[in-house]
Amino acid sequence: MTKKIRTAILISSRGSNMQALVEAAQAADYPAEIVLVGSNRPDAEGLAWADARGLRTLAIDHTRHASREAFETSLQEALEAVDAELVALAGFMRILTAPFVEKWRNRMINIHPSLLPSFRGLHTHEQALAAGVRIAGCTVHFVRPDMDTGPIIAQAAVPVDSCDTPATLGARVLGAEHVLYPAALRLVASGDARCEGDKIFMKQNVNSSLPLYSVTD
Ligand code: GAR
Repeated sequence: MTKKIRTAILISSRGSNMQALVEAAQAADYPAEIVLVGSNRPDAEGLAWADARGLRTLAIDHTRHASREAFETSLQEALEAVDAELVALAGFMRILTAPFVEKWRNRMINIHPSLLPSFRGLHTHEQALAAGVRIAGCTVHFVRPDMDTGPIIAQAAVPVDSCDTPATLGARVLGAEHVLYPAALRLVASGDARCEGDKIFMKQNVNSSLPLYSVTD
């Protein structure tokens, strides 16, 4: 197997997507290795989870930095210290400046709990329910300076039930996130998904022409 891509994961709290990535990366044939789990919040539960599994962890407390730029300088140093080649944002809730994002252009990916470009920002499940969509989901994309934009690598869809609350829909989407993110990181780290300009090229076409339906039996 060719060299694994050195990947840093950045979180801000629970870290369930980080856990899904870490667990996937344990497979011998997975093309990424997790070299750092970082958080802007020292009390993030996910940091303790990663620490307990012997992963390298680091808290870079944004409240202890005078500016966004100072925080990002520390973050950049931490990423360079582990020779990170790829960054996976997994519930990382800090806005990153355009210069930092550009430094990691096509080397930084994010998961967002909606089918982008719909429902950017916060409260995505409330937004989806208010819009009355029958299909919701999640998206993994390369990061660009505008929040929740960037070339889309992969999406997963889940049906919306008439009885759904933001919590029930959120739980269903989160389950899909845990499957989608490891698959999307695999695509990027293996080189099977490449970004040229703002377009994604896949090594393989999708293997089905069937549409995804949201219908009841
Ligand atoms: C996930 O649902 C992720 O998609 C979302 O935060 C949650 C983090 O959960 N991210 C965003 O909203 C980013 N715009 P986790 O910490 O358990 O992975």
